[in-house]
Amino acid sequence: MKKPNIAILGATGVVGREITKITDELKIDFGEIKFLSSAKSAGTKYDFQGRTYIVEEAKPESFDNVNIVLASAGASTSQKFAPEIVKRGGVLIDNSSAFRMEKDVPLVIAGVNDSDLKSHKGIIANPNCSTSQLMLVLKPLHDKAKIKRLIVSTYQAVSGAGLAAINELSENTKASLAKQEFQNKCFKKPIAFNVIPQIDVFCENGYAKEEMKVVNETKKILHLPEDLPISCTAARVPVFNGHSEAVDIEFEKSISPDEVREILKNAYGVKVIDNPENYEYPTTCDASGVNPVFAGRIRKNLAFENGISLWCVADNLRIGAALNTVRICQKVIEWHLY
Ligand SMILES: NC(=O)c1ccc[n+]([C@@H]2O[C@H](COP(=O)([O-])OP(=O)(O)OC[C@H]3O[C@@H](n4cnc5c(N)ncnc54)[C@H](OP(=O)(O)O)[C@@H]3O)[C@@H](O)[C@H]2O)c1
Repeated sequence: MKKPNIAILGATGVVGREITKITDELKIDFGEIKFLSSAKSAGTKYDFQGRTYIVEEAKPESFDNVNIVLASAGASTSQKFAPEIVKRGGVLIDNSSAFRMEKDVPLVIAGVNDSDLKSHKGIIANPNCSTSQLMLVLKPLHDKAKIKRLIVSTYQAVSGAGLAAINELSENTKASLAKQEFQNKCFKKPIAFNVIPQIDVFCENGYAKEEMKVVNETKKILHLPEDLPISCTAARVPVFNGHSEAVDIEFEKSISPDEVREILKNAYGVKVIDNPENYEYPTTCDASGVNPVFAGRIRKNLAFENGISLWCVADNLRIGAALNTVRICQKVIEWHLY
């Protein structure tokens, strides 16, 4: 079969740059590649695999003869270009929230529900970053003991909100230390030396949209019943990169912390660091820039019957977005789904 032509849409963004890097790391075997952005970055030089490319402004014609589009350019951009991509026979692997909950769109974490890819109709969605890292940890535990109830609290890095947010944490920190005035733009409150209990807008039920993404996407990916109780609280913390999550799980069957440790030690994409007496537990500094989801602080939960509590940390730009996108692309190529 002919090697696929690939386009990276949103190539100049935080996630797009990471997708480009990982496309090289995972040795994706493509025919041609192009890098697309908005008019703002069009014309800039982009180095990849020893060649210099020119970033092009994304237009419908940009997708002529493109087989696979790896998109991280926001929901409205994906909505605008998805019909153009599909009409031309391309497959869109999308990082935005635009299509995640659509019935005909598989929502996939590579290594968790790959077989859902086979039902795609031109669009494949990549889950939200906080859901993504959680799935690699929960799937093998769910297979063993069946999740009955789930409570997640997230501590999310600013890189999850894009390049402008990373710059805002830098500038806000410098201004605070210099005791200067600072006008926050990306966040509703100052992010330096602060924790903000809001990610995305609030829904009618009082949960923030980010929190409902964790609830709904988890059910879709793990094929859980609609009425299974899941709750999430998402907070933005002044960390540049790497999301942390405190996870409390009630299982139908009894499962011990030692069993959980053993299962996770052998799980795809997961690394266990769990020796608290020696101060060994995962932190964002362990996770930033590398591929595994780290799990630790595994213990019996005192509030639930058959309950386990754990802490998990991952690079939100990698497993939460770019790495999973490229892993999906790898599967799409391997299974000739384009
Ligand atoms: N950051 C994360 O951890 C994360 C995780 C999961 C999903 N996502 C999703 O990934 C997407 C991008 O996030 P990001 O953090 O990489 O944002 P970002 O750093 O702000 O980058 C946005 C990218 O999209 C491009 N773009 C914007 N409007 C466009 C348009 N009308 N046409 C074509 N390209 C356009 C930008 O091009 P210019 O350079 O020309 O502006 C830039 O390349 C969002 O949907 C986000 O929700 C992010």
